[in-house]
Amino acid sequence: MTTDAKILSALRANPDGVSGAQLAEDLAISRAAIWARIEALRTAGYGIEAAPHFGYKLVSWPDALHADDLLARLGKTKVIGRDIRVFEETSSTNDVVEKLARDGVREGVVVFAESQTKGRGRLGRKWMSPTHKGLWFSVLLRPNLRPQEATQLTVISATALRRAIKTVAGVRVEIKWPNDLLVGGKKVVGILTEMSAEVDRVRHIILGIGVDVNQDAAEFAPELRSIAASLKLAAGEEICRAELATEILRELDADYARIGGGKFSAVADEWEAACVTIGKNVTVHTGELKFRGCAEALDDDGALLVRTEHGLLERVIGGDVILEK
Ligand code: BTN
Repeated sequence: MTTDAKILSALRANPDGVSGAQLAEDLAISRAAIWARIEALRTAGYGIEAAPHFGYKLVSWPDALHADDLLARLGKTKVIGRDIRVFEETSSTNDVVEKLARDGVREGVVVFAESQTKGRGRLGRKWMSPTHKGLWFSVLLRPNLRPQEATQLTVISATALRRAIKTVAGVRVEIKWPNDLLVGGKKVVGILTEMSAEVDRVRHIILGIGVDVNQDAAEFAPELRSIAASLKLAAGEEICRAELATEILRELDADYARIGGGKFSAVADEWEAACVTIGKNVTVHTGELKFRGCAEALDDDGALLVRTEHGLLERVIGGDVILEK
């Protein structure tokens, strides 16, 4: 953890305040160095009061993502979030993480951007990423999985996001296979899983996650208003993005450990219980292929099992699944 992250961590752990002397001792640096870092944090928008008997006290924080603050809030994780980087603007966080992957950076790094100029969704679609309104981030993973098991990661992302959103925003979201989270039938989260693999081994996977957090209805493009929503609209109040971000990473880290420990079936059960796709008639588009059927279950590796109109059981691992009304 950086010095700033340690200071923010100590301030959060001591809501009544912590003395400069105590901070200096705990961090093994001088009181002057602590004072300089407190000034830098104030400049970054953190409201830190200095009271004669209580020392420094954190009273407010900016609505901005700050790597040190996210690390301080998150604390220790096994893999996901042990390295967090925040950009004010980037093309696509998936591209940034792709480059880190090629440079050999270890798994677990998370890259957030306050806005993306070329945010992308599945199937070549654009992803709108307005500044400071959502969470636009990507996670690098190097799982010990075969390429056909990669859907497991989309599944654990959906369950982790669902729990985190319930905890922080109090909103119950539904899952639409494989990668959408919905509130009242409108999309609030999209997940773009990109993979680099050999025939029998995944090299790395990038989980790109977009959460519409604090937009008002008018901030969505007119063509999106009937299909997209934000957590603020669903909860009726503004959501703290930093709190939500860290809860998502905490839950994701827990579910990643579950699949690493061979417990994917427990995650799959949780996923199925929250999935609006199961039991519904669907139209599936995969590449050139289009067919209708009933989504029956999730397979052991995360694929969707669809009973076609002709009675065949098809395994769907990608493409678009449209729910019929
Ligand atoms: C979808 O529903 O089509 C997936 C949307 C994924 C959007 C996120 S935002 C962060 C990351 N960077 C991108 O360019 N896309 C993903």
